Amino acid sequence: MKKIEAIIRPDKYEPVRAALEVVGYSGLMLTEIQGHGKQKGIVQQWRGDEYKVTLINKLKLEIVCKDSDVAKIKKAIIENARTGEVGDGKIFVYDILEATKIRTGEIGDDVL
Ligand SMILES: Nc1ncnc2c1ncn2[C@@H]1O[C@H](COP(=O)(O)OP(=O)(O)OP(=O)(O)O)[C@@H](O)[C@H]1O
Ligand SMILES: [Mg+2]
Repeated sequence: MKKIEAIIRPDKYEPVRAALEVVGYSGLMLTEIQGHGKQKGIVQQWRGDEYKVTLINKLKLEIVCKDSDVAKIKKAIIENARTGEVGDGKIFVYDILEATKIRTGEIGDDVL
């Protein structure tokens, strides 16, 4: 099992979710986050002055899935979250050591 953690633009959540619905997934978590990547934020102009905004609003989307589903889920996210501009986000994939379904006590791939 793997956890796919995708940092995406907030306005890309709906198209990404619609694409995930098509490829299939068993659950997701969504967190509003702030962060920055290589550019360390953006410079904004206001009344002639420049302000450095170092933290930008993003969404963190987390999906735990079978190893065999990682490729299609990543593809759905990439194809629908991408604008081609800096700040499109990143995808991190983690190994899941164990998953337990609280209601039934099941452990492993069956919980998904
Ligand atoms: N190395 C990192 N560690 C943790 N979070 C990161 C890292 N890089 C990016 N992020 C997260 O992803 C969000 C979007 O990052 P961003 O897409 O700007 O990355 P980037 O490497 O600067 O790529 P780009 O050059 O396309 O902008 C950040 O706001 C942050 O939340
Ligand atoms: Mg960036």
